[in-house]
Amino acid sequence: MAKDSLSVKDNRTNQTYEIPIEHGTIKAMDLRGIKQDDNDFGLMSYDPAYKNTASTKSTITYIDGDRGILEYRGYPIGQLAEKSTFIEVAYLLLFGSLPTPGEYLTWSNEITYHTFLHENLKTLIQAFRYDAHPMGMFISSVSALSTFYPEARNVDDPVVRLHQIRRLIAKVPTIAAFSYRHNRGLPYVYPDNDLSYTGNFLNMMFKMSDAKYNPDPILERALDVLFILHADHEQNCSTSTMRNIGSAKADPYSALAGAAAALYGPLHGGANEAVLRMLSEINDLKNVPEYIDRVKAGEFRLMGFGHRVYKNFDPRAEIIKRVADQVFEVTRHNPLLDIALELERIALEDDYFVQRKLYPNVDFYSGLIYQALGLPVDMFPVLFAIGRTVGWLAQWQELLDDSEQAIARPRQIFLGEDRRDVPDKR
Ligand code: ACO
Repeated sequence: MAKDSLSVKDNRTNQTYEIPIEHGTIKAMDLRGIKQDDNDFGLMSYDPAYKNTASTKSTITYIDGDRGILEYRGYPIGQLAEKSTFIEVAYLLLFGSLPTPGEYLTWSNEITYHTFLHENLKTLIQAFRYDAHPMGMFISSVSALSTFYPEARNVDDPVVRLHQIRRLIAKVPTIAAFSYRHNRGLPYVYPDNDLSYTGNFLNMMFKMSDAKYNPDPILERALDVLFILHADHEQNCSTSTMRNIGSAKADPYSALAGAAAALYGPLHGGANEAVLRMLSEINDLKNVPEYIDRVKAGEFRLMGFGHRVYKNFDPRAEIIKRVADQVFEVTRHNPLLDIALELERIALEDDYFVQRKLYPNVDFYSGLIYQALGLPVDMFPVLFAIGRTVGWLAQWQELLDDSEQAIARPRQIFLGEDRRDVPDKR
């Protein structure tokens, strides 16, 4: 029987160490005992960008990047996208199981009745320039919420914590919609409690003079599915940010604003925005081959392609492609879709992309759907943030309940100057 351990020989000292292996992992702290002498700090692992470091144990989301698997609490993403609502998935991610009908009713009521914002927050949004990026407004407004709910600092109290979780899930669509209306110079539309989570979001975005806004059920469902697909993705950049800030016991509004700021980056949630800008820049099918050549020459990256984890295919991209077809049946055809399909076709056959295992990711088609729903490009990362808010909160809650966690504090390899004295005269 092979032992679940790693035998390591330190050639500097000729000493051999036995390091236990658990869950296919060794504990980085076990390396610390490997020393040249008593004055040695001990061995560390060096892993910039955390490419091979597990920062936590988690029971929320499972990904097998090589096989293109994504599961929330054991349920395949494709089944959830087909059979569940976003609010149901939120419950699943936060509490570990799908809600019973009674639990679902209570949960969705709780979310529905927390969608309003304090009027002062509206004043804050109004203070932004007319052309402020909605993601900037979103981040600032979420962060400002912490000043409205000072009790949120009590992160160790599960009751207080749950209350902030409800508030955040309920209020992020309102903040997002107000940011959009601010950009357009339109009056803010208050939440309509008769509508679903996603239907109400569309109402706050698009209602004009009609007495009652009735969302198109296909478009409402499409957006709900997009929220489900974006709800969690284990330890990605923004979630790790949420956990990092949360590890200092900051309140969830501040932590979530930080996570949203990470999401704003073009290599992360900003990619769907970048995809649309890229497709507009290509502008015509005939320009696709030249664009691919420039990508291969290293001039820039093909946005919406590649993923740190998925090296086969992104299961979310397949679902999104199907949703896109349904949406385009309702809305008019988007010429950028033809460019996207041609880019995908060429890239999937081209050696450069095949060898590097670069496939369309979740952002490749989501932007086209958002555009078909009438949403401006600037809003894309905000929509991503609405869905991901649930994952950030589930991960934050898990972190706070995990006795193995402590304040996140990586080490460094110092390669700077040795100690030196400041000269007397300069
Ligand atoms: N276009 C062209 N080449 C690419 C792309 C791309 N989109 N992505 C990676 N490559 C190339 C790299 O140049 C590199 O080539 P090399 O080996 O010749 O140097 C190789 O593929 C590996 O790239 P890495 O940067 O090491 O891959 P990593 O796993 O670190 O990056 C990332 C993943 C950031 C997503 C990257 O693929 C990328 O920049 N994609 C475009 C942005 C994007 O779509 N982001 C959304 C990600 S999904 C999400 O956040 C929800």
